[in-house]
Amino acid sequence: MLSGAALMEASGATELEGARAEFPWASRETYLNTATEHPLGARTTRAMEEYLHALTHGPDSAREKFENGRLMVEVKGMFARLVNAQPSEIGFTPSTQTGENLVLEGLDIQASGGNVVTNDLHYGGSLVNYRNRRKSGMDVRIIKHRDYQMDMRDLERSVDRKTKLIAIALVSNVNGYVHDVKAISDLAHAHGAYLYCDVIQAAGAVPIDVKAMGIDFLACSAYKWLMGGRFGYLYVREDLQGTALKAKLFGGRSTETGASRYEISTVSHVGCVCQHQALRYIHSLGVERIWAHARPLVARLRNELPAAGYPTITPAGTESPIISFDVKDVAATRARLKKANVVTTLGGSPEGGRMRVSVSVFNNQSDVDRLLGALA
Ligand SMILES: Cc1ncc(COP(=O)(O)O)c(C=O)c1O
Repeated sequence: MLSGAALMEASGATELEGARAEFPWASRETYLNTATEHPLGARTTRAMEEYLHALTHGPDSAREKFENGRLMVEVKGMFARLVNAQPSEIGFTPSTQTGENLVLEGLDIQASGGNVVTNDLHYGGSLVNYRNRRKSGMDVRIIKHRDYQMDMRDLERSVDRKTKLIAIALVSNVNGYVHDVKAISDLAHAHGAYLYCDVIQAAGAVPIDVKAMGIDFLACSAYKWLMGGRFGYLYVREDLQGTALKAKLFGGRSTETGASRYEISTVSHVGCVCQHQALRYIHSLGVERIWAHARPLVARLRNELPAAGYPTITPAGTESPIISFDVKDVAATRARLKKANVVTTLGGSPEGGRMRVSVSVFNNQSDVDRLLGALA
């Protein structure tokens, strides 16, 4: 078997320069858990500390450097560029689920007798939302996955001319499965419906192009591959703003034009300061390179963990930084990972569970070595 370093060389992958040092957490634990939360980078922390210092010690004028419109404009611009949108198509939102709720409310789905189609690879919290909406009378159709991917034929059977919205997680938090977004948006549009994508497990990790993919609405928080800030974004296609998607909640930040019309309150300035640095960093690395960096790490887990008794539930060919495995003995697996100081997402009952492993820019083949060493 090739060692991690030899494998990396063979795959043509290189470490992203300086990324390990940028995230000190990665030297303390083998952190393979970005799908839960990304560690903060040193540069984002420095900026936030400077801002907090100003808020703690003053003078009042020191706030100005961080609480200003220019910073917000730049953050919006950088996020827009990340997903190939116009800045006027981006609004700030506190979180992914807030964004999804704004879309569900703004489309007047129930009042118009329409339905929503989603699937069980969507986030559990979103499914709570949909089940509650169903209880309140909304026609909600939840498609079951087949072998942990969505079968387009199931979607075709569920969508009809009353469908207003298809809602999916572009990259599933369950197993990293990447939906065929273009095929789904084509289907939605052919029925006069719209496509909403939850991109919290995708933004900053895999390329997103709202235009090429035909995405009408998207939302995400920044605490995963956008590298922190407890901050969020909502994209609304320009021609749907205020027409198909009405603003239903208003406040001091609501504007007459642009996607800012869906904003309500003051944004988290700390989050904005963090995102200002994080998005600059992500753009400096390039999402294509971040995506490519994950490939050989995930490939090795796919190749080697099943033989150690951990079959994967992530479909072959999945191009995301997340891979999940069935776990027979959760307690024993947890003990081994703990002993090796390796962090993943591991859950389930004594009868069996699941482990999700996720990688980011700071991970390298030595991290994979340690996980495999603990379990294989
Ligand atoms: C796919 C997905 N959507 C949404 C969320 C939660 O997002 P937020 O806290 O921004 O509402 C998560 C959290 O893990 C997630 O994995």
